[in-house]
Amino acid sequence: MILLLAIIYFCGARMGAQPINIPLETRNNALVLRVADNKDVNLIYYGKKLSEAAEYAGIPELYKQSGDYSGMLTSAYTPSGSRNLVEPAISVTHADGNNSLDLKYVSHQVSAVANGVSSLTVQLKDPVYDFEVTLFYKAYFNDDVIEQWSEIRHKEKGNVTLHKFASANLCLKADSYWLKQFHGDWAKEMQPEESRLTHGIKTLDTKLGTRANLFQPSVFMVSLGKPATEDEGTVMYGSLEWSGNFRIDLELDPQDNLRIIAGVNNYALDYSLVANEKFTTPPFLFTLSDKGKGDASRKIQRWARDYKILDGKGSRLTLLNNWESTYFDFNESKLSELFKDTKKLGVDLFLLDDGWFANKYPRNDDHAGLGDWQENKAKLPNGISSLVKEAQANGVKFGIWIEPEMVNPKSELYEKHPDWVVKQPKRDEFYFRNQLVLDLSNPKVQDFVFGVVDNLLTKNPDMAYIKWDCNAVIYNAYSAFQKNQSHFYIEYVRGLYNVLAKIRSKYPTVPMMLCSGGGGRVDYGALQYFTEFWPSDNTDPLERIFMQWEYSYFYPAITSSNHVTDWGKQPIKFRTDVAMMGKLGFDIVVSKLSGNDLQFCQNAIKNYNDVKPIIWHGDQYRLSDPATNSVASIMYVDEAKSTGIMFNYLVNYRYDAKSTFPIRLKGLEATKKYKLTEINLYPGSNSSLNANKTYSGDFLMKIGFNPDVNARRTSVVLKIEEAK
Ligand code: GLA
Repeated sequence: MILLLAIIYFCGARMGAQPINIPLETRNNALVLRVADNKDVNLIYYGKKLSEAAEYAGIPELYKQSGDYSGMLTSAYTPSGSRNLVEPAISVTHADGNNSLDLKYVSHQVSAVANGVSSLTVQLKDPVYDFEVTLFYKAYFNDDVIEQWSEIRHKEKGNVTLHKFASANLCLKADSYWLKQFHGDWAKEMQPEESRLTHGIKTLDTKLGTRANLFQPSVFMVSLGKPATEDEGTVMYGSLEWSGNFRIDLELDPQDNLRIIAGVNNYALDYSLVANEKFTTPPFLFTLSDKGKGDASRKIQRWARDYKILDGKGSRLTLLNNWESTYFDFNESKLSELFKDTKKLGVDLFLLDDGWFANKYPRNDDHAGLGDWQENKAKLPNGISSLVKEAQANGVKFGIWIEPEMVNPKSELYEKHPDWVVKQPKRDEFYFRNQLVLDLSNPKVQDFVFGVVDNLLTKNPDMAYIKWDCNAVIYNAYSAFQKNQSHFYIEYVRGLYNVLAKIRSKYPTVPMMLCSGGGGRVDYGALQYFTEFWPSDNTDPLERIFMQWEYSYFYPAITSSNHVTDWGKQPIKFRTDVAMMGKLGFDIVVSKLSGNDLQFCQNAIKNYNDVKPIIWHGDQYRLSDPATNSVASIMYVDEAKSTGIMFNYLVNYRYDAKSTFPIRLKGLEATKKYKLTEINLYPGSNSSLNANKTYSGDFLMKIGFNPDVNARRTSVVLKIEEAK
């Protein structure tokens, strides 16, 4: 394997009679491309790695599928307008007005990118037009993760219009395919649905522009043969690393192949490509496991921590947020009290939310002020700087909320720069949360948005955290800056990434939360710049058990900002225990907590500080699914398999619902002995569990452990420690 990664070779267009096979192997899997005699490049295999690479060549002849009339059903990047009969990956109009495209193999190259990371590039060219596509496959060996994207360019005399330009075009072969997809809305993010794919095309997409995931995220999974369970079955996970419109077509073709074509949504987007301009698509991320959904998750989670999310291996700050405790109604003296409460609670940082800015149109509710990022003089006469200092004097850090991509029509920004606003010149404005989106495709707007962050951080070098919100979708898509309106949606996201890249080159480490009126925006394109995201405004802990469960298929716990709030009917213990399965924060009125509730929280934060490295950096195992059981259970184990933490919750409140059977633990060392101690006990209550008993890993994984969850013990947190 190392050999494969270390060898850099180049294969020219000269070919003999034998087709060329190009295997891209990771620890467990192989993706194999074949260059046919006619120089078409097909994907002949994506599945478990074979011991002998030479044997990949024998795979295609064993498939006795019905005829492929075009000879290109399994194309590695399906062009349109020539022989193709199915959903294309790319479709263009050439400079001379012709709509046909064919793509033939020119060369390929395999190279080592870094330790454990290799890249395969495949050069394709139209035999008739001076038009080229390079396919990129970046393979992360240890995690079985591949990122695929394409680069498109031409040297035609005039512009070429790209009507479709996918990042990836995969092809799976199985008896049946089961799609697990997600949908949602505000406070209802990540609702799962799993169903068998039938012939034709199932499209997952969004056309919202910003807050693109509000109704549907790009994450999905496809099980082969039968729906995979947590520990069994073959399942592929996919996701587009893009914070704007995406489109994923899953096409069950006439030969029963599942063709997956994923990329930026071409809705309202015809891209006019100038000669020699490189058009690069965002990566489509995928992994495959034959050991079920749990293994696939752990691979993606590990990959994300190691390679993608900002500071994935680092630490995070616990915090007290004031959104739900004050909303827009605060002033310096109220905040002074909150700094004290932050310290009293024992968290690291105070996060000042919406409402701190704007003077001509003060931000006292969500109808005015967005865009005017100057401290509101009535609420904060001494400015943000004095707050940062005062927080520090109280022994806590200070963070701040911004929503820099947006503007209220009632704002000075709107008055000064109406041309910076996304809106149709001849039509009525239409609002989402009383606001409009700024035109980030305009470099001047990019500078303005960068300036919002830059000013805050330059004036306040000790500012320790930023919550970056995005509360509106794009209606009436139109840019006063763009000459070609059909570039708008892609230029918006490019503009956003320019700003984020600039922020990160100047401020590489300041933690930033990706928020979008809840979970309207989370993807691995954005998470390169953010340390964490806000899964939902819905913080009812019962809802969160389900939602965090679904997010956890794709995102590691270290990225999940979970706040204890007053949503839901559960006691503070339940709410805190649930929020601990990620990055813990609070958004409650600390001064109104009862003595016992406060003591519980203080103690839980101490426990959290003790176990958070396991939650953030350990392997996650989903043990008992809330969708099918009365008790939900999730555990995290450190790499050494010596310490773990297990969270258990009652999710069914009918008579006598409880943890009837022991719950099998996972990821332990069979030969090690463990003791399980209940932590986060509410003051005055005792555990019903025997903390002195030890169990072998073998026992805990084969028989399990009963956390004794029932109507009197609705939430039970267990610390698992190796007994030496
Ligand atoms: C969004 C966020 C909330 C809060 C408000 C402030 O709804 O999701 O957490 O920050 O905006 O207006």
